[in-house]
Amino acid sequence: MIVHHAASTTFFLQGPQSSYVLGVDVHGRLLHLHWGARVSPGSLGQVVRNLDRAFSPNPIQADRTYSLDTQPQECPTAGATDFRAAAVVVEHPDGTGLLDLVYERHAITAGKPRLADLPATYVEDPAEADTLTVTLIDRPSGVRVELAYSQFRDHDAVARSLRIINAGDAVRHVTAALSASIDLPTADHRLLTLSGAWARERQVEVAPLRPGVQGVGSRRGTSSHQQNPFIALLAPDAGEEHGEVRGLSLVYSGCFNAQVEVDQFAMARAQIGLQPPALRWKLAPGEAFQAPEAVLVYSGTGLGAMSRTYHRLYRTRLARGQFRDAPRPILINNWEATYFDFTSDKLVAIAAKAHEIGVELMVLDDGWFGARDGDRAGLGDWVVNEAKLPGGLTALAARIEQLGMRFGLWFEPEMVNPDSDLYRAHPDWCLHVPGRVRSQARNQLVLDLSRAEVREYVYEAVASVLRGARISYVKWDMNRHLTEVWSPAHPAGEVHHRFCLGVYELLERITAEFPHVLFESCSGGGGRFDPGLLHYMPQVWTSDNTDAIARLAIQHGTSIVYPLSAMGAHVSAVPNHQNHRTTPLTTRGHVAFTGAFGFELDLNQLSPADLAAARALVVEYNQVRELLAAGDLYRLRSGADQTWAAWQVVAADAGAALVTFVRILAGSNEAIPVLRLRGLDPAALYRVTSAGEPDADLGGDVLLAIGLRPLVRHDFTTKTWHLKRL
Ligand code: DGJ
Repeated sequence: MIVHHAASTTFFLQGPQSSYVLGVDVHGRLLHLHWGARVSPGSLGQVVRNLDRAFSPNPIQADRTYSLDTQPQECPTAGATDFRAAAVVVEHPDGTGLLDLVYERHAITAGKPRLADLPATYVEDPAEADTLTVTLIDRPSGVRVELAYSQFRDHDAVARSLRIINAGDAVRHVTAALSASIDLPTADHRLLTLSGAWARERQVEVAPLRPGVQGVGSRRGTSSHQQNPFIALLAPDAGEEHGEVRGLSLVYSGCFNAQVEVDQFAMARAQIGLQPPALRWKLAPGEAFQAPEAVLVYSGTGLGAMSRTYHRLYRTRLARGQFRDAPRPILINNWEATYFDFTSDKLVAIAAKAHEIGVELMVLDDGWFGARDGDRAGLGDWVVNEAKLPGGLTALAARIEQLGMRFGLWFEPEMVNPDSDLYRAHPDWCLHVPGRVRSQARNQLVLDLSRAEVREYVYEAVASVLRGARISYVKWDMNRHLTEVWSPAHPAGEVHHRFCLGVYELLERITAEFPHVLFESCSGGGGRFDPGLLHYMPQVWTSDNTDAIARLAIQHGTSIVYPLSAMGAHVSAVPNHQNHRTTPLTTRGHVAFTGAFGFELDLNQLSPADLAAARALVVEYNQVRELLAAGDLYRLRSGADQTWAAWQVVAADAGAALVTFVRILAGSNEAIPVLRLRGLDPAALYRVTSAGEPDADLGGDVLLAIGLRPLVRHDFTTKTWHLKRL
């Protein structure tokens, strides 16, 4: 997978259909040479041409054509001849941030080493990947940067990370560490980002590149609802099914930066990495700083193929644990059914009705602990409120299990309400700056998880609940962003990243002690839907917006990077609690199928017709749950124009598929949509089954070339087709 072409001092990372090539130039600088369609190891001809350029200074006096300002680099630094954005900045004792990084050595090994203290993709067998480690050194200071590149055998994906080592004899500070930096030779790309807000996360935004810096990031302490740690560059002709697309995704859950700088010669520097506000990480002599992993995916056949590569990799080699490959239970969550207003009997009644139609897991959301009757108090006090739940969680879990269901529970472990016993006992345990206001959001403060004693409390609080009752699922929520980020335990410039590392450490321990528990992460919906948390929790509550039509754009955007198995999606009541829209129950179900499927309403309140529709949904879902959990997604139409949306999930062997069509707003006397399918076997015959129509046996070639003609004419209605190879 990785070839060292010694004659040209280049390294070829060979994916199934892609190559990523870097090389050491005559001056020892590590250059980026190619990331795109697969090329054979050997000479790359005229890939780098140098010219004497005005105002691009020369580090080698004898060569006026050589400037780092014009070289395509793998690990650019600041302060000398490159005026573009740096990937690594280290502050020396004299206050300067210069690094003159040159090649020192390299190693190619089978497999993929773990990243210390950070989530990352992994292999189960060393034959699945090769790793190239290139060590660069700044000779005057002794600072080394180790760049690691893992090429996967079965995926057109390269996992990149870097480690900064202070091998000098003075204390230094890391102030920037971007895991991936790639100088593409042209700027005729469009930049795709996943941007949004609470209840409208990960909307696809595409804009042409222009000279200068453009990008997205988070300073919120989490990856955020507002931006996602991902960008893609789309070639001019690229679309869903064709053209070159390059994705950069960061396996991290805190502040990040993802940007592209188009320089004076139309070279595009794409970068992604962690970038907390005012990062200043102390490196004593001999210490190292590990940056998170960036996963780079190239597709020569459009955005859809890029997404499928991310899906397969993240589903099987980022997520972990016994639920990674298992179909997830159909659940019912009481949040939108009751909010804080529940009793044991009410919860059991909701569960019982759900069980009648085939739901398998009952999740008790917020409000079961401490003085938590609203969002004003109780966070931090993880002791069941027996006045609300007589007999505690043990009794409630037993009643749910007697129904034949499993029991799940909500936590928000990273937070504290000022009105809580925890805060009264430890007012200094939250992030705050002494002498300044402690800004609240949703009446809560953030626990200082950079501190070991605070993490220990949180760990024991959650673990003792999980040890005490039969709990099969945990929803791990996080409902505000970080402000006044300071800690008595660490220098201020380290606290953001240490908070994130603290969350990872907690999750590592908890998921190890409770491997039988299915963990779902949440941050006011999809505020931390990122690859970092997917490593610990294989599914995420996609958005607090449960409206089926709003979910189309949210799930479409989320699917650009993240697998369907990761997206929590529920059928909720109408009018919808977030946007007041009314849609048919079957529509809500069909849209929720394309995720970890569940319900979030009281089925006792449904009309007989809706209850029958809910029952039918569970029957239909059970026919396709394995397919949906592990199949390949083909996005047929996004629905961004508010007319119709469609997608298809196809089994890996193309033996089965589910096609979903959603009519958004009906036009008047309009054309019948043409739905050409994807991913099928053209030589196979498929039985096509759809409610209300006779079965039809159609060739894969016909379905690919001609497709289906859905007659779905009412606003907000859906239709599904089940395909089975005969
Ligand atoms: C925000 C989550 O996204 C909701 O689903 C719910 O769990 C509430 N928090 C509870 O406070």
